[in-house]
Amino acid sequence: MKSLKHLFGIADLDREQIEYLVNLGDSFIDINRRSLKKAPTLRGKTVINLFFENSTRTRTSFEIAGKRLSADVINISASTSATKKGESLLDTGQTLAAMQPHVLVIRHSISGTCEFLAEHLENTAIVNAGDGAHEHPTQILTDLLTLKQAWGTPEGKTITMVGDIAHSRVARSHLLAAKKLGYKMRIVAPRTLLPAEVERYGCEVYHDFDEALPGSDAVYMLRVQSERLTDSCAFPSIREYHEAYGLNSQRLKKAGDDCLVLHPGPMNRGVEIATDVADSVKSHILAQVEHGVAIRMAVLAALCGGDGGDDGKE
Ligand code: NCD
Repeated sequence: MKSLKHLFGIADLDREQIEYLVNLGDSFIDINRRSLKKAPTLRGKTVINLFFENSTRTRTSFEIAGKRLSADVINISASTSATKKGESLLDTGQTLAAMQPHVLVIRHSISGTCEFLAEHLENTAIVNAGDGAHEHPTQILTDLLTLKQAWGTPEGKTITMVGDIAHSRVARSHLLAAKKLGYKMRIVAPRTLLPAEVERYGCEVYHDFDEALPGSDAVYMLRVQSERLTDSCAFPSIREYHEAYGLNSQRLKKAGDDCLVLHPGPMNRGVEIATDVADSVKSHILAQVEHGVAIRMAVLAALCGGDGGDDGKE
């Protein structure tokens, strides 16, 4: 398998690498469930989490993942970093890289931040924890681990993704993964929340949620990314959005008994998802959160050579 130097996006991974990371994540689930939650895999390695956007799940799970594997983990959020004093992103990146961490995990509102920094920083592996509306690779690997647990393989299954596709890095990364792994994506959104030429990803596009549900093996709900919405008229009101694009248990019946419900979080209950679905047995949303830790352990281990490979760095 091609070794990993950085993790920028699903676009850069081939099927073998995706399956390798999902399987490695699978093997780490157990460490996270034990009473002694520690393995020496990344002893002596340093991971810096640099978050310029809000995050609960992703930031915490990267921190826990590093600590489970005995890495030294440092967390920096934009509100406490020197960027608030006018330092450029590049200067912040070079400053942190000068402290010789093995991995820099970055979340930023600008697409391409990770690739940009990687061009300028030597000897530091960079992981994209979400860049603008571009990619969010570890979320997709997390979802694939959740689907592996439920189905064995996603191949041939149909995932119906609903909501703000235009501003969602989760949607974009899933559309790329679907092509590589052979699952089908149905996209459901109002025209105002659809990216231009979305069909080029090979997905089916619906504007009527109820029409898309029959034959769906999973329904994946997305939050409206209000922080990225420049047009406040994307839909008339929350009530109307919920009526047309919200998932409740009544609507879910149209998808058949075995349909799973997924959401990357944070959920906006009463907007894209009703409480009766979010808390139902069909919801795998908390399983996604748990698997997020295992996948981030896998990604850190693969980048630091703690997966049995060699990162070429002592
Ligand atoms: C997603 C993100 O940040 O892109 N959340 C996450 O990482 N779990 C989706 C979202 O913010 O709605």
